[in-house]
Amino acid sequence: MIHIPKSEYARRRKALMAQMEPNSIAILPAAAVAIRNRDVEHVYRQDSDFQYLSGFPEPEAVVVLIPGREHGEYVLFCRERNPQRELWDGLRAGQEGAIRDFGADDAFPINDIDDILPGLIEGRDRVYSAMGSNAEFDRHLMEWINVIRSKAHLGAQPPNEFVALDHLLHDMRLYKSAAEIKVMREAARISARAHVRAMQACRPGLHEFSLEAELDYEFRKGGAKMPAYGSIVASGRNACILHYQENDALLKDGDLVMIDAGCEIDCYASDISRTFPVSGKFSPEQKAIYELVLKSQEAAFAAIGPDKHWNQAHEATVQVITAGLVELGLLQGDVDELIANEAYKAFYMHRAGHWLGMDVHDVGDYKVGGEWRVLEVGMTLTVEPGIYVAPDNQQVAKKWRGIGVRIEDDVVVTKKGCEILTSDVPKTVTEIEALMAAARNQPEFAA
Ligand code: GLY
Ligand code: MN
Ligand code: MN
Repeated sequence: MIHIPKSEYARRRKALMAQMEPNSIAILPAAAVAIRNRDVEHVYRQDSDFQYLSGFPEPEAVVVLIPGREHGEYVLFCRERNPQRELWDGLRAGQEGAIRDFGADDAFPINDIDDILPGLIEGRDRVYSAMGSNAEFDRHLMEWINVIRSKAHLGAQPPNEFVALDHLLHDMRLYKSAAEIKVMREAARISARAHVRAMQACRPGLHEFSLEAELDYEFRKGGAKMPAYGSIVASGRNACILHYQENDALLKDGDLVMIDAGCEIDCYASDISRTFPVSGKFSPEQKAIYELVLKSQEAAFAAIGPDKHWNQAHEATVQVITAGLVELGLLQGDVDELIANEAYKAFYMHRAGHWLGMDVHDVGDYKVGGEWRVLEVGMTLTVEPGIYVAPDNQQVAKKWRGIGVRIEDDVVVTKKGCEILTSDVPKTVTEIEALMAAARNQPEFAA
């Protein structure tokens, strides 16, 4: 399995500590277990910030970074070994494992945190934490601070500054290392296979969930534990609902189906959308819209590179889509005016992409000092233009209504421009029709 090496977690902790103000401490909690129903839990997914710094996969844990601490800068609080619980729920690293396998300098039982952590905070001027994102943890933090305050008469020194960790940490997360890109390439490769399989398996009479099953099969077979987000399999007019979730409609001859799905590997996401005809053959209107979206995506790729700012790719898609909609007769008027008054938003109402990483909509600022951020090598983002003709749009000829197309790929900014991580899924009309036609004769995909 391709994964982030241990040495990289150590490098990240060091890099964060180097940016922290002198005499400070950073504290981050693991994600809580979410209950699905009564005794059943949701599949556990570690908090992305916590995972980024520790690679530690368990709940009920707290990372503490104390630059310059004599007895070790990296302290991990985690669950104790417990043969009875481990018999039911699985193995735990325990404190020994935290040090041996996860690089902690010091490890303590999570149940002792109230007794130990105030002593680690005491005497530090600043506390870095993800303030405001976890109410329960914020409350604990104030309790630990109050323990120190209550001992002020004995000479204890509580910190006076509380700093949001996000700014430092999320900027680090925005620039992907070679190891991160390797993992994201693997997630992209598996997801690409899943999309190909769904195209091959598609037949009128199946359901949207039948294709979701094909996706899940490839995700799990590739070693992904989970999709990075709820897979969207939207046929016909359902594709005009941007984040459609039901995935239960019948696949009908003559409709398109839009799939937006990607898996997660070692907590790194992929995010791919493809749109193809249920029957394997695009109608003239479907083809016209599809090729316009594709052309806009190509214009966006050309607008991504180290000297370009974040919004250039979006602007390129708006330009191509608006001009194309006028050409097809779906919009009337002057292209520049239609862009200025945002008339294109009736058909293209979302942005061309987002940062991609451990979170599908990843962290990182899009603007710096009020200006769109200039792209730099190692930033990863999606490029996902779309056109959605509302089924009840009375302004356009009937033949266009209910067509929804999105094409989405993942890219990493390189010195020369960008590398597309998800190019293994066919994208041109000819390629898609050829793949689907060939699958008709493959016994594996027989109806
Ligand atoms: N899958 C959600 C998105 O494309 O942003
Ligand atoms: Mn996306
Ligand atoms: Mn998507």
